[in-house]
Amino acid sequence: MSDPQWWQRGVIYQIYPRSFQDSNGDGIGDLKGIEARLDALVALGIDAIWVSPIFPSPMADFGYDVADYCGIDSRFGTMDDFDSLLAACHARGLKLLLDFVPNHTSDQHPWFAESRASRDNPKRDWYLWRDPAPGGGPPNNWISDFGGSAWEWDEATGQFYYHAFLKEQPDLNWRNPEVVEAMLGVLRFWLDRGVDGFRIDVLWHMVKHADFPDNPPNPAWTPAMGEMFRVLQLHSTDQPEVHGIARDMRRVADGYSPERVLIGEIYLPVERLMDYYGRGAPEVHLPFNFQLIEAPWKAETLARLIADYEAALPPGGWPNWVLGNHDRPRAASRFGPEQARVAAMLLLTLRGTPTIYYGDEIGLAEVPIPAERVVDPRELNEPGKGLNRDPVRTPMAWDDGDTAGFTRGEPWLPLHDDWRTRNVAAQRGDPGSIWSLYRDLLALRRERAALHVGDWLPVECAGDILAYARRHGDERMLVVLNLGDRPQPFAIPEWAGELAVLLSTRGAGADPALLRADEGLILG
Ligand code: NOJ
Ligand code: CA
Repeated sequence: MSDPQWWQRGVIYQIYPRSFQDSNGDGIGDLKGIEARLDALVALGIDAIWVSPIFPSPMADFGYDVADYCGIDSRFGTMDDFDSLLAACHARGLKLLLDFVPNHTSDQHPWFAESRASRDNPKRDWYLWRDPAPGGGPPNNWISDFGGSAWEWDEATGQFYYHAFLKEQPDLNWRNPEVVEAMLGVLRFWLDRGVDGFRIDVLWHMVKHADFPDNPPNPAWTPAMGEMFRVLQLHSTDQPEVHGIARDMRRVADGYSPERVLIGEIYLPVERLMDYYGRGAPEVHLPFNFQLIEAPWKAETLARLIADYEAALPPGGWPNWVLGNHDRPRAASRFGPEQARVAAMLLLTLRGTPTIYYGDEIGLAEVPIPAERVVDPRELNEPGKGLNRDPVRTPMAWDDGDTAGFTRGEPWLPLHDDWRTRNVAAQRGDPGSIWSLYRDLLALRRERAALHVGDWLPVECAGDILAYARRHGDERMLVVLNLGDRPQPFAIPEWAGELAVLLSTRGAGADPALLRADEGLILG
């Protein structure tokens, strides 16, 4: 391919800012903290950071409830701190992506204060207000992703407003052109400051069916599941008009340069996901591909999933892969410490842009949270259903000090109990650590065009083996992954007979004809 952009060649690293590095001892990570750790990220070998929301917020949903899109929450620092972080990133050749939360604001946003002030307020229509259903009660059966009706009654003006998430997160009305203009202005504000792009929160939620019909019931729902799964979100998400908005956002980004990237958070089946690349006119550069987070860890399933995804991509659509994020299970917990290394090799050798979730590079697992320390509103609303996101948002461990170098104070969430050994400093000094594996994988990916821009080709395999080739011009590489915990033979294809083992997840002594338990290999 000709002249790939950085967001095609490079690797993105997600920072959950509350948990990355605290600089002032309040136990909450902040912008100065992130800046202080940039060199460690350069040493790891990533290309860009995406920082989860840092805007002024009452923190009902830890920043995904924004009260001012063009400011910095004082818990994270100041606008000067932000400018300094951005300059520090750019000085190191790193890109910085922000988290844009366009579907909803905080209920403390001045726009919502106006909207709820009276029915004839000029901003009334900026949010989704509806009369009660005939006979009373919410206008329809839509359920909030965090449980309960998605409609909140407003006594003062006698109507309900819609919130796909918490009642403290009222949804904006993107059918209103003034909302569109205001929010595109937010993108311009940050692009003018120099940010390199955005991850767009719940892009597929942004437009709802104009008539608000009931959603159909989900026949597979059981009471053990979150309430949101009671109905299928047929009319409340993924409406055709969302694509016009995605196109508008893309036009704004392209007005700056093709290097400014938009990444859409979209949980949809592959065929529908592909629409967000844009049919006809471009939409987001990368609609997040979350399949590895959800798929069963079986060689055959993954082989098919990868091939189907590759086949479904529209012309010019660039692939991407994700293993975890601040809402989903940690890789180290899903796979265990050995297989997490294989998963890292998969993530970093597939075709397309990988996003690494902070902490995965030290094999950070989910941390059990004692009941009295739970803070995730999702868990507090629907306790005991396995919905808690706190365990995947715990502080990063940098060294073996009493608070792992994360803070001088009390961390807002508990540290993992093996932080004295599972920390960046210890692992940087150990060539066999998962951190060192990530570094080696990132270095190899950067060095070899076959890995960062080459084609992906399936290779015949059996049992627990997943194998594929990467090819660019004359350069050919072979990746062989044993997804099981027993040794597995592998029939090396003839074309790969001369290739040497460049990297093993299990260190020296690799034999590509017989993979060790939980071993991944790269040959080239
Ligand atoms: C998706 C975000 O990733 C999640 O953390 C948040 O709670 C919801 N969107 C609502 O903004
Ligand atoms: Ca702090």
